[in-house]
Amino acid sequence: LKKNLLPRTRKEIFETLIKGLQRLEYRGYDSAGVAIDGNNDEDKERFIKLVKKRGKVKALEEELYKQDDLDSKADFETHFGIAHTRWATHGVPSAINSHPQRSDKRNEFVVIHNGIITNYKDLRKFLESKGYEFESETDTETIPKLIKYMYDNRESEDTSFSALVERVIQQLEGAFALVFKSIHYPGEAVATRRGSPLLIGVRSKYKLSTEQIPVLYRTYLGLHLKRLISLIGNIENVKNICNSRMKRLDSSTCLHAVGDKAVEFFFASDASAIIEHTNRVIFLEDDDIAAVTDGKLSIHRLKRSASDDPSRAIQTLQMELQQIMKGNFSAFMQKEIFEQPESVVNTMRGRFCWGGLKDHLKEIRRCRRLIIIGCGTSYHAAVATRQVLEELTELPVMVELASDFLDRNTPVFRDDVCFFISQSGETADTLMALRYCKERRALTVGITNTVGSSISRETDCGVHINAGPEIGVASTKAYTSQFVSLVMFGLMMSEDRISLQKRRQEIISGLKSLPEMIKEVLSLDEKIHDLALELYKQRSLLVMGRGYNYATCLEGALKIKEITYMHSEGILAGELKHGPLALIDKQMPVIMVIMKDPCFTKCQNALQQVTARQGRPIILCSKEDTESSKFAYKTIELPHTVDCLQGILSVIPLQLLSFHLAVLRGYDVDFPRNLAKSVTVE
Ligand code: F6R
Repeated sequence: LKKNLLPRTRKEIFETLIKGLQRLEYRGYDSAGVAIDGNNDEDKERFIKLVKKRGKVKALEEELYKQDDLDSKADFETHFGIAHTRWATHGVPSAINSHPQRSDKRNEFVVIHNGIITNYKDLRKFLESKGYEFESETDTETIPKLIKYMYDNRESEDTSFSALVERVIQQLEGAFALVFKSIHYPGEAVATRRGSPLLIGVRSKYKLSTEQIPVLYRTYLGLHLKRLISLIGNIENVKNICNSRMKRLDSSTCLHAVGDKAVEFFFASDASAIIEHTNRVIFLEDDDIAAVTDGKLSIHRLKRSASDDPSRAIQTLQMELQQIMKGNFSAFMQKEIFEQPESVVNTMRGRFCWGGLKDHLKEIRRCRRLIIIGCGTSYHAAVATRQVLEELTELPVMVELASDFLDRNTPVFRDDVCFFISQSGETADTLMALRYCKERRALTVGITNTVGSSISRETDCGVHINAGPEIGVASTKAYTSQFVSLVMFGLMMSEDRISLQKRRQEIISGLKSLPEMIKEVLSLDEKIHDLALELYKQRSLLVMGRGYNYATCLEGALKIKEITYMHSEGILAGELKHGPLALIDKQMPVIMVIMKDPCFTKCQNALQQVTARQGRPIILCSKEDTESSKFAYKTIELPHTVDCLQGILSVIPLQLLSFHLAVLRGYDVDFPRNLAKSVTVE
């Protein structure tokens, strides 16, 4: 058995941490850092080695290779390292401000943090009055200093690491996911969360083939069954073998056995960081404190009470590594644009397992109004579907930007139904709006792309859009899948309405033919690339439309500005003569979205107003529309579908255009400056 154990070399430890960070880079990438054990020698004084670097994870990796003898043969039977990639909130991007943050120059305690500590100024003042000197501008630095203060003032020599952490988080306000490491508790890890996500991956350190399992089973029969589970690391496997031999194992025995020394634990804010090591994860809840001591994992609650059950099930994730890899595409964004024929189908399949939404339909039909809340692209999905939802639900529908909704203290009532649209399921503004609506007892519905995310867990019911992981910071396939989910919700709501059956059938057959039509739009890629060649040196790009396609303009302009850094505006064509017309001349590039829908004639008017000012419109129109193309400088012709679904097709050329513009302008498409994929701060 011994030879099956895989002790980690220093190099492997670094690689695991760096790879994990690279997978998390979409959350932020302006600086990164790592803390690992400086030595593995029981006789010498332990120290923690801290390496931090401004810039992307690649820069940190290069620095590590410069500083460390990675080929050293030293094996670590137990080792605990932490690493972090940052998106600046407090303090500029710099090595000093990056994490891990430390308690003092000896690195007695080091901490990585996701979130914001809102009372950090008071904590800092207190700690400074006790003689602590701060080196960074971050809110996070108060945490390692506070734990050192707790350690120096502990009541007993036996105070555990997790007891110290418990005391620290009682003083913290705001949102956090934290992992602590200390020279005073070698090989021990403590992690906790409140408001920011944190999970623990569980993997056996033993590698066993399926043939070895029965052999082991016979060897250990009846004697060390718990040990056997920890060796194999796969509870289901052991359960199956044992059940088939008439020996039953209950799950609590299995779970208990996982806390054996033969298991490795991975703490991460997102499964993509650890999925290549294990798909078995435990999602921590707010105020859980998880500790690994002597190779065993324990979880307890901050506020212990009889009803506060700290047991957490191990879940098996279905996500596969290749799903989060780029494949043959040059960027994740490009891959995700081209995935849309399949992702919309996956969204439609998801319909049958919608988390409890069906059970609430009666209640929703009786509600006062629907409020749809989101940020950025997710908000645009709400704008895009508002009209069809009003039509199919026959209810008033409000669409709201989460931040503005909160700023206005918008009145919410218990007979309101509030939808929260979020790809990540973690956007802080949307999450705050959700909590605000819950406090007012409204029914809350989540529409997210991330199972186990905060929004999906905290809403009363919801929909998983099932678009697959979206890595590119600019959202593409999540938008079209959110769009489809909302339309399908409208269809569910109108199932019994006789007067709406014809319309419903039209929409349903439109949905069925979407994948083929999306493929047809994607085949325009080369033509759009040529258009990008003409436009990429411009400073501005206007996108204009109305009705069902107003959201297309907002979303297209957002894509262009966020990855090409060009100025771009989505303009409601009805507002043209109230101001934006002043921008039109021979030079200003303007894209007009004109579809064969109820707004067609009004869009023709806008087109006339633009051409009368020597504007040179690039027109996105239906294939059969000969009228608009007569006035166009250029046209991009799209297949025609039902009016309320046309926005799914018309946004794709704009996604492609922004991608090509960004590449031609020499920018990193997947990592636009100043942005992060998941905005977990308000
Ligand atoms: C733009 C983009 C952002 C997000 C916004 C909300 O391409 O991705 O505007 O849509 O930050 O994020 P989620 O949907 O994760 O709540």
